[in-house]
Parts: sequence; structure tokens; C-alpha cells
Amino acid sequence: MNFKVNSKNALSILFDWEGLTFDDLRQLTLEMNIKNIRWLAIHHPDNKTRENLFRLSNVEVGEKTTINMGLYVYDSFKPLVQIGSYCALAANISLVAESGPNMSELGNYIEVNNKYSITGTIIIQNHCWLGANVIVLPGVTIGHHSIIGASTLLTKNVPPYSVVKGQPGKITGSVYEILKNTKK
Ligand SMILES: CC(C)(COP(=O)(O)OP(=O)(O)OC[C@H]1O[C@@H](n2cnc3c(N)ncnc32)[C@H](O)[C@@H]1OP(=O)(O)O)[C@@H](O)C(=O)NCCC(=O)NCCS
Repeated sequence: MNFKVNSKNALSILFDWEGLTFDDLRQLTLEMNIKNIRWLAIHHPDNKTRENLFRLSNVEVGEKTTINMGLYVYDSFKPLVQIGSYCALAANISLVAESGPNMSELGNYIEVNNKYSITGTIIIQNHCWLGANVIVLPGVTIGHHSIIGASTLLTKNVPPYSVVKGQPGKITGSVYEILKNTKK
């Protein structure tokens, strides 16, 4: 089969990723459509490569952050999501920074758009831990050192050091108290 350059590069990224640096990945994805880079980021089997591919598809990711497979970022590839350093994101998280009805007739109604089509930067500050299947809605900032329980739906900002769970997410604990009273 005659693969073109981008297909060959995509296969290299998927299967020959050991030892690939950020600069190698930048080079390999130079001519690639950002949609393909994002697809590789979501599904790649290696943590470090995933994080770098998110960086290359316009998601800000700090150092030493772990992103598990299946992170869906709704941002139309615009810089609307910032993930801090030393964060842990479990599998199948959705960060919905941009929300609208696409081609649905609903989008033709100004009042629907004004009320329900929302875009807002999502910020996850340093040292946060998000459980599996968390959903974050537009404009939400998660304060540093917060723990977000599995399947939580975040509709509002989260102060630093919070434990949050439920749909919608509610603060149910304080990490600060735990850190204050516990040795490492
Ligand atoms: C939220 C979490 C951090 C624990 O918080 P906690 O406050 O210590 O929770 P507890 O285990 O003491 O349970 C307290 C109550 O919350 C409920 N609860 C626990 N986790 C919950 C969650 N994610 N969503 C809703 N309710 C939850 C428990 O059932 C319990 O309910 P009850 O009081 O009616 O019995 C943990 O349950 C969690 O979700 N961790 C993320 C796990 C994960 O996804 N890891 C990914 C791989 S790294």
C-alpha cells in the first residue's frame, strides 16, 4: 500500500512512539490536520505522547501532568482549555469549553443561542485530580489541589483544595484539612 507522508507519520506516532520527543512529534505533525493530531492525542496508548499531542492540538498542558485515554476537549481547536502542572486526569473525561447545537435548527433561534450556546475557558489549576468520566462545563475553573470524584458534573468554579462529587458537583470535603493534619 502507498501511504502518503501524513499517514506514515501517524503510524510512526501510534506504533513507534518510544523515544519520540516533543520536537520529534512537532516535526511529524507539521503538515497534519489538527483534527488528526487531536484524534491521536485522545487514543494514543502512551501517557507522555498523549500529553504532547494535546499540546500540539492547542490544549495547554503543564509539566508532569498525566492524561489518561479518552479525554474529549470541546474547543473547536481554539486555545480554550488550560490544564496545569502535576494534575491527574482519569479516563473518559469531557472538558466542554464550547457548547452549541451545530447544524440543528435550534441554532437559528437567537434566544436559544443567547441562553444555551456557551463558550468559556476551562482552567484546571496545578495538582488537581479528576476521576473517571468527569464532565466540566464552559467557563469552569478548578482550584489547585482539588479532587473531583468519578462521574462528577462540574457546572461552577471549584475553590482550591476542594473535594467535589455528584451531579451537579457539590463540595463534600476539604483537601486542605487532610494535608494540614497528615504527614506525607
Ligand atoms: C469522591 C472520592 C474521591 C471519595 O470521596 P469521599 O468523600 O472520601 O467519599 P467516601 O468514599 O467517603 O463516600 C462518601 C459518600 O459519597 C459517595 N460517593 C463516593 N464517591 C462518589 C462519587 N464519585 N460520586 C458520587 N458519590 C460518591 C459514597 O457512596 C458515599 O455515599 P453515602 O454517604 O451515601 O454512603 C472517590 O469516591 C472518587 O470518586 N474517586 C475517583 C476515583 C477515580 O475515578 N479514579 C480514576 C483512576 S485514577
